[in-house]
Amino acid sequence: MSIEELNVVAVVGAGTMGRGIAQAFAQGGYATTLYDVDPDAAHRGLEAIEETLEKGVARGKVSAEARDATLERLRVESDLGEAVIDADLAIEAIPEVLDAKREMFAELDSRCPERAILVSNTSSLPIATLAAETARPARVAGLHFFNPVHAMKLVEIVAPEATGHDVVDTLRAAVESLGKRPIVVRDVPGFATSRLGVSLGLEAIRMVEEEVASPADIDTAMELGYNHPMGPLKLTDLVGLDVRLSIAEHLARELDERRFAPPALLREMVAAGKLGRKTGEGFYLWRDGKPVPREAT
Ligand SMILES: NC(=O)c1ccc[n+]([C@@H]2O[C@H](COP(=O)([O-])OP(=O)(O)OC[C@H]3O[C@@H](n4cnc5c(N)ncnc54)[C@H](O)[C@@H]3O)[C@@H](O)[C@H]2O)c1
Repeated sequence: MSIEELNVVAVVGAGTMGRGIAQAFAQGGYATTLYDVDPDAAHRGLEAIEETLEKGVARGKVSAEARDATLERLRVESDLGEAVIDADLAIEAIPEVLDAKREMFAELDSRCPERAILVSNTSSLPIATLAAETARPARVAGLHFFNPVHAMKLVEIVAPEATGHDVVDTLRAAVESLGKRPIVVRDVPGFATSRLGVSLGLEAIRMVEEEVASPADIDTAMELGYNHPMGPLKLTDLVGLDVRLSIAEHLARELDERRFAPPALLREMVAAGKLGRKTGEGFYLWRDGKPVPREAT
């Protein structure tokens, strides 16, 4: 399928990511349906999209016409079969649970038109395992958006060996049509982003353990010395230390035990409930959503 033939998009799962992805495609000119197993979640998703668009209008980033046209192209569906019946592209954004996603791919394969491309927004699960649930492995890939979708430019296209080159090309063009930047990554644990981002974060935590410098100074090293918009420890606090720990454990298991071994300090902080911004304390103290270096208090 070429990009000209890709007109109808179905998003399955209307949580944090699904609603953002549905908004991006509707705003990009695609007829988009949003489905969630929980009808309330789907409606909350639509409300959140309306709010985000409204904020965009207030800030002058979205015109009132674009807001109205986006909402016209968007439809909430409470039946999966109805949601995907015409889909050229079906995007799975349900929770990160392998068995649930496998079941969903089998279901999507049986309910979507034969031409449809099926993708998952998974951050870590193997795409080939999902493709194996379908009779169309050449038309299955990963399409990994970042949070918040409306603000984040990157999309990782994850392509197992069986994925067709034409499918990768179409997905690349689709991502570009949303004003975002695609990268194409092999179907390996951690893709490109988690593998690199977690490596840097783990090394920064080891540096805190070795008292090389304070967390704030380690972050400043990357922010001012390497032009990173945010240092690795602040980012770890934002993502959640528990989330980072489970990704590190996954990469240690699947990729390299030594390189991704979680530092003892990370385990201790998670066990103590210091999970970062969401608990008010991590490598920084978080006050009113802002990081405050410990030494400044
Ligand atoms: N949150 C992030 O920052 C982020 C970033 C990138 C990728 N991801 C990935 O995106 C996916 C979704 O994450 P999220 O944070 O949006 O999760 P979420 O928990 O916010 O939303 C998941 C939604 O899926 C719905 N759901 C559950 N089972 C379903 C089913 N069988 N059919 C239809 N809907 C179902 C739930 O009701 C919920 O509304 C996960 O694979 C996650 O790893 C998340």
